[in-house]
Amino acid sequence: LWTAANIIEDQIQRVRDQVGEGTVLLGLSGGVDSSVVAALLHKAIGDKLTCVFVDTGLLRWQEGDQVMAMFAEHMGVKVIRVNAADRYFNALAGVADPEAKRKIIGRLFIEIFDEEASKLDDVRWLAQGTIYPDVIESAGSKTGKAHVIKSHHNVGGLPEHMKLGLVEPLRELFKDEVRRIGVELGLPREMVYRHPFPGPGLGVRILGEVKREYAELLARADAIFIEELRKWDWYDKTSQAFAVFLPVKSVGVVGDARAYEWVIALRAVETVDFMTAHWAHLPYEFLDNVSRRIINEIRDISRVVYDISGKPPATIEWE
Ligand code: XMP
Repeated sequence: LWTAANIIEDQIQRVRDQVGEGTVLLGLSGGVDSSVVAALLHKAIGDKLTCVFVDTGLLRWQEGDQVMAMFAEHMGVKVIRVNAADRYFNALAGVADPEAKRKIIGRLFIEIFDEEASKLDDVRWLAQGTIYPDVIESAGSKTGKAHVIKSHHNVGGLPEHMKLGLVEPLRELFKDEVRRIGVELGLPREMVYRHPFPGPGLGVRILGEVKREYAELLARADAIFIEELRKWDWYDKTSQAFAVFLPVKSVGVVGDARAYEWVIALRAVETVDFMTAHWAHLPYEFLDNVSRRIINEIRDISRVVYDISGKPPATIEWE
């Protein structure tokens, strides 16, 4: 019988049988899949699970603190937080090409994860949030963005000498099943039903060169947008919504003077499969309110625009 509770019981037993002695390592991203794996494994093997959370500086507003609060403080999961923002911004300096940025971000993640792993004793297992659609995807085409996504997300580059066995308790599950399990395991509904967030994070939502200053402005604008979507009950009616940083200066009036400040684009889409998407018909009063908040609260932004492009031909992300 398929119930979330049964699946959990079954997986806990399987993980316990599989793992035995030794540490299980998990890359915790803050996304749904790795979070559900963390909660499940914590329940199954407690302190034998060690998570590595890499704060890239390209995450959502205060996401690093939220992940630590939920998993480390609240649930008592062992989490190593690596504050790697400096490394990311340094590695990305001067790089404007989107695929080059993706590669740098992905490579750095693996590098940092490896470093942390090699500091730990007796690591014998690597846990991953692989879900059934990932299994199908990687059995098929090895080209294009999808592959880049998974090769980034599901750590592939651990040193050969570590010879880790894989623990993939979500391998047979679809996304909606993973979410139900997450709720059953006690993860907040809001977190489990969050919009997807790309592996490279704000790195592909800052057009062109990534800078710390841009990332901070973008994260703040994005947080205002998301907060208002929730308030106006539009969050669950959209499939994905976010802000994009446009590195162009547009004129505005601050006091009596003209000021040239940055532009933020808002994107919200409705989609079933993310292969095609419609832009969300958000109410004008809502957009007006978000725009005013962003411009009033973030000094360096003087203009907000709304993206009304469908996919195709426009992709959901701007890069
Ligand atoms: P596009 O922009 O191709 O996005 O219409 C479709 C979905 O994929 C996500 N996306 C990514 N996810 N790494 C990821 O993990 C990436 O490099 C990446 N690029 C796009 C995007 O957020 C949307 O949900």
